[in-house]
Amino acid sequence: MKDLLEALAPGSDELALARAIDSGRIPAHIAIIMDGNGRWARQRNLPRVAGHKQGVPAVRATVETCARLGVGALTLYAFSVENWKRPRIEVDTLWRLLRVYLRAELALMMRHDIRFTAIGRLEALPAPVRTELDLVTRRTSGNRGLRLNLAINYGGRAELVDAVKALVKEARNGEVEVTEQAISARLYTAGQPDPDLLIRTSGEMRISNFLLWQIAYAELYVTETLWPDFTRVELLRAILDYQKRDRRYGGLGSSDVPSSAGAVLPGGDPAREPMSQPVSLPAR
Ligand code: FPP
Repeated sequence: MKDLLEALAPGSDELALARAIDSGRIPAHIAIIMDGNGRWARQRNLPRVAGHKQGVPAVRATVETCARLGVGALTLYAFSVENWKRPRIEVDTLWRLLRVYLRAELALMMRHDIRFTAIGRLEALPAPVRTELDLVTRRTSGNRGLRLNLAINYGGRAELVDAVKALVKEARNGEVEVTEQAISARLYTAGQPDPDLLIRTSGEMRISNFLLWQIAYAELYVTETLWPDFTRVELLRAILDYQKRDRRYGGLGSSDVPSSAGAVLPGGDPAREPMSQPVSLPAR
């Protein structure tokens, strides 16, 4: 957080927003559906790929800001399992942009102690893309700051299928208890906290097969801003909005909890979910 405050210009909107953020409640994990590149290009009579190209600086600013803020993990949806249906030229441009991005950003990742991982069915990607992904993954593997997950050829259902296949395979070799933890441990994001905040740009009210399991309790933030126009200011606003939310996880809101709080709800499983605070029932 201190790192971000030092990087912002005195008197800027960014600095005012950053100062309003509660450094004790920074989301442990932010997930972003980067949408609207095509519309951004269409509004300017440009080819769709121009929108993707213009989306790269927004990726850079978002990654750097999250690293400076002390966010634990950031997952960006770069290419879905359904995106292969797009014209060949668009798909090829996305691979080219990704390779250029990875090569150019390695220095920034090292400078900010960012650990990079790609998640998705990576075996289907073109070999030069895989080579670049492997290189950046290896070079940043010792970093301990922001965990940057890039979701590529990613689908939430595909991820669950892969997790269940792994569980079934292990079950054949011995006992495996099917629990929520066992499934989480076989997802691409194993070992990472679930997203606290899911941001979607360009105004669509959809999840689009993104992190279906992991976003069970995420707070949603949808902005009309198209991805190439997504700035640091917008990211800080999303985090501030998140910090105003009353996260209940199926329990009671903080204003509904009597001061004699302490017990859990009958029938509730206290181990199942992180309750925002202990909940007691009012006396009858
Ligand atoms: C969605 O916009 C965006 C994508 C499918 C790709 C995201 C890619 C980038 C942000 C640029 C490159 C990324 C990296 C990590 C270097 P859309 O094309 O679906 O927009 P539309 O809904 O307006 O058509």
